[in-house]
Amino acid sequence: LKLGILASGSGSNFEVIAQAIQNQQLNAQVQVLIYNNPKAQAAARAEKYGIPSILLNHRSCKSREELDAKIVKSFQEYDVEWIMMAGWMRIVTQVLLDAFPDKIVNIHPSLLPSFPGIRAVEQALKAGVKITGCTVHIARLEVDSGPILMQAAVPILPDDTAETLHARIQVQEHKIMVGAIALIADRPTDKNVP
Ligand code: GRF
Repeated sequence: LKLGILASGSGSNFEVIAQAIQNQQLNAQVQVLIYNNPKAQAAARAEKYGIPSILLNHRSCKSREELDAKIVKSFQEYDVEWIMMAGWMRIVTQVLLDAFPDKIVNIHPSLLPSFPGIRAVEQALKAGVKITGCTVHIARLEVDSGPILMQAAVPILPDDTAETLHARIQVQEHKIMVGAIALIADRPTDKNVP
């Protein structure tokens, strides 16, 4: 499974993918990392694993479509089959979705369809739910929607802050991210989409 990764920030999800591949837990390969934020720590993680990385700064694009067209070009050059949005903080457009139909995966820090969009962890705290979690799903045009591949639940503790809760959610994110890729690697066809 030839993966292309999109990341905007720390890149911890990207690193668990790279690590799982290195440990031969996944029958996959990361072809390239694309990041949009010059300060993204994900770039340093790519270097550590000898994975090529490309900075495509959205600020130098006139539209979301222009950024996505550049992403498509780069991923095609690197022979990417599946895209993992591992903390990708940009809204995807039809340009990207059409180039990789049903082959773009997103991770989100809530039990979707609850709390889509930004600040999902804060949203869950504010709503007073007792259980939240994380979701890996196939991306669709509507933000944080699409067929769900895997989820994990995380209880909210009385003293939780957004930081402590997000830290526990991330432990679970790392498991389901790798789990979902294993699922896809076993059946790399449209059969993953319910
Ligand atoms: C994760 O919580 C993910 O669910 C959200 O952004 C965060 C990225 O974390 N979309 P990292 O960059 O992988 O550490």
